[in-house]
Amino acid sequence: MSAVQNWRAGPGAALRGTLAIPGDKSISHRAVMLAALADGISRIDGFLEGEDTRATAAIFAKLGVRIETPSSSQRIVHGVGVDGLRAPAGALDCGNSGTGMRLLAGLLAGQTFDSVLTGDASLCKRPMRRISEPLARMGARIDTAADGRPPLRIRGGQALVGSDHGLEIASAQVKSALLLAGLYAAGDTVVREPHPTRDYTERMLSAFGVDIAFSPGHARLRGGQRLAATEVSVPADFSSAAFFLVAASIVPGSELRLLQVGLNPRRTGLLAALRAMGADIHEENASVQGGEPVADLVVRHAPLRGIEVPEALVPDMIDEFPALFIAAACADGPTVVRGAAELRVKESDRIGVMAAGLRTLGIGVDETADGATIHPGVLQGGSVDSHGDHRIAMAFAVAAQMAAGQVDILDVANVATSFPGFEVLARGSGFALERL
Ligand code: S3P
Repeated sequence: MSAVQNWRAGPGAALRGTLAIPGDKSISHRAVMLAALADGISRIDGFLEGEDTRATAAIFAKLGVRIETPSSSQRIVHGVGVDGLRAPAGALDCGNSGTGMRLLAGLLAGQTFDSVLTGDASLCKRPMRRISEPLARMGARIDTAADGRPPLRIRGGQALVGSDHGLEIASAQVKSALLLAGLYAAGDTVVREPHPTRDYTERMLSAFGVDIAFSPGHARLRGGQRLAATEVSVPADFSSAAFFLVAASIVPGSELRLLQVGLNPRRTGLLAALRAMGADIHEENASVQGGEPVADLVVRHAPLRGIEVPEALVPDMIDEFPALFIAAACADGPTVVRGAAELRVKESDRIGVMAAGLRTLGIGVDETADGATIHPGVLQGGSVDSHGDHRIAMAFAVAAQMAAGQVDILDVANVATSFPGFEVLARGSGFALERL
């Protein structure tokens, strides 16, 4: 684990500049996984050089896959085929990454060898029955620690059978784990979601030549197919761009251009929410990169008003609530979030940790089991604890720019899991932000 780091941030002035946001984390994980399982050599451009995605790449190296790094944002993966992974020498460490662990659990459930998946203190608190139970219905054998937490002990050599899964939680990680296990199962694996989630696994399986039928909220694939190596171009991560969208919206005089950001509709709920709040964000130079819609996002300061966030938007902005809470704190009138209980089991309890931090900075927050009402006000200086959650650390760095005094943000090392260049980009655009 990285050494503890803290920031001192804000108050700041107008933000200006043109920023290249790093590659998408969700897509980078999947690109390494599918390239490793493919027949032939795949090339990945725009790979996120973050701790989470590096952990996934390191796991495939332990499983016998050769991965070259010609530059920090590129990987050349020498695929071993669906049946070519080798038994690892020890436990496989997913670091902070729920995506890494849950998708790998599905993939490893279909191997001939045993494996153990573990992770850092935060990951080892996160619920895994959401994958171990439906995978067990396919014949997988996965033991969890007490309470359904990691580590996961996966028994190889099981004959998996396809199953029709009607999911209760809208989770791309659960869906993806089942589809990856489905590659190793006899017959068809079907996943039906209560609300459509990001479809990167489906799109990428298709790009690697797998015959998969999918539409929003539904996917079906036949087991026993092989993958063919391909080239993957990873767009900039909307979830990383989100912090700059909120920062430029709330800090007077700001104008930022974020280059060629991925705009998959299952990821851009925050754009809709911010626009409903009155944000001035427009899209330029739209194109398609690696099968994904991308565009420059130009954001200018605008007065925001509070809204009731439509529940239907929640899955499309599930990682953006820390940023949204800060926009809400600076808006005119309260913002209400409901139907977002999943936030309590992310890298931290994002409802509880955001509410505690905002209250420290003088903002009223009424918490509920599945959301919160944020009562805007004047942000004060103070000391807030991110609880090791990367997105909470970055959200409070944004808040600090509008605070009346300096904000100390504790335990920020995990920003490197998703956005290692954040500090440099933020300072370059005008953030007041330094290490303590
Ligand atoms: C992800 C899915 C989401 C999201 C996470 C990445 C993915 O998690 O919060 O950051 O890459 O599939 P859930 O599937 O738990 O909603």
